[in-house]
Amino acid sequence: MRRFTSSLLDQVGFSGIRAVFEKANQLEASGKKMVHLEIGRLDFDTPEHIKKAAKDALDQGLVHYAPNLGLPVFRQAATAAIQRQTGVRYSDKEVIATIGATQGAFLAMAAFLEKGDEVIIPTPTFVSYLNAPRFYAAEPVSLLLKPEDGFQVNPESLERAITERTKMLVLISPHNPTGSVLELKTLEAIAQLAIEHDFLVLSDEVYDQMLYEGEKHISIASLPGMRERTIMVNSFSKTYSMTGWRLGYLAADAPLIDPLIRVHQYSVGSACSFVQAAGAAALNSSSECVEQMAAELTRRRAFLLENLHPALVPVKPLGAFYFFLDVRQAGLTAEAAVDLLLDDGVALVPGPAFGPGGEGFVRLAYATNLEELRLAAEAINQVLLK
Ligand SMILES: Cc1ncc(COP(=O)(O)O)c(C=O)c1O
Repeated sequence: MRRFTSSLLDQVGFSGIRAVFEKANQLEASGKKMVHLEIGRLDFDTPEHIKKAAKDALDQGLVHYAPNLGLPVFRQAATAAIQRQTGVRYSDKEVIATIGATQGAFLAMAAFLEKGDEVIIPTPTFVSYLNAPRFYAAEPVSLLLKPEDGFQVNPESLERAITERTKMLVLISPHNPTGSVLELKTLEAIAQLAIEHDFLVLSDEVYDQMLYEGEKHISIASLPGMRERTIMVNSFSKTYSMTGWRLGYLAADAPLIDPLIRVHQYSVGSACSFVQAAGAAALNSSSECVEQMAAELTRRRAFLLENLHPALVPVKPLGAFYFFLDVRQAGLTAEAAVDLLLDDGVALVPGPAFGPGGEGFVRLAYATNLEELRLAAEAINQVLLK
């Protein structure tokens, strides 16, 4: 029989997060108690008023196709939210309701990438980004984020990575997996390079409301000359604990929307209508539920900062809900550290699952309660400190 698999998939593997999740579940099934710190999924329920908005929408018959861009009520809510969060104004024809940020990012890659293009991806990174360009025959180019730079993008290294073929740069801030938040001066240096070398920026802002120690969210789209070359993606998954609803949005300057919507209309049509109604309700209602979640995450982060040995935390995370722990001084590889901790009932993800630059680190997602975090911190300090 012929080989049916597309050769574009030759370098696309399975997610390293899944592998740990499955191992942890197997151990649990055999009776072991497990603290799950491997999955980027919060333990909070979706707030009641958002669920109610979805139920009401269903009862009102919002069960048909939505316009390709999304329901007008959703797009108005999204543009208002973006303006509140970033100061950037978009018209309701410059946003698209997407199936999570994941589809928003794929849409951007499908619309703008082709064979021979290079996409610079600061790594370690959210797992999709190193693989997504390959579906469009484009080349992901890894740019190492280093603890000595506070896991910030280093503008000089970025400049060295730029070639004639660079079409796009992927930025995530606040960042998964390191928890870093891009500083204004870093963003300004990146913006200057993007303009000078004429490339697009895919700006992933899904953790924009999870910031600590007075950090403020800055979107690169808000810097001079950047709105016209930025594709901003956001999501309800983290902010409202809605990972299973699969809803997000993308915003971009009008000329960029045209190619994006051409892909969207033929690949997805539109995001789910009654889910968009719930998303609009989430964005239009009081931010109290978001603040409550942020307060709980703040408590968990403070607890971990106090209880994890400082040698494991070379860079204090300032956003999202992750710690990227340094296991090098224990003389362990990331995989060996993860295996040892699985035996001790704690599931973490080895840094290399997030691409080059992740060796010697493991990711901890503080997506569970303080009691479990206490058990985990004790085990981690015991196993990872030599
Ligand atoms: C940086 C980043 N972007 C996007 C996503 C995926 O978001 P969604 O559930 O909206 O597809 C995640 C999920 O962990 C993430 O960490």
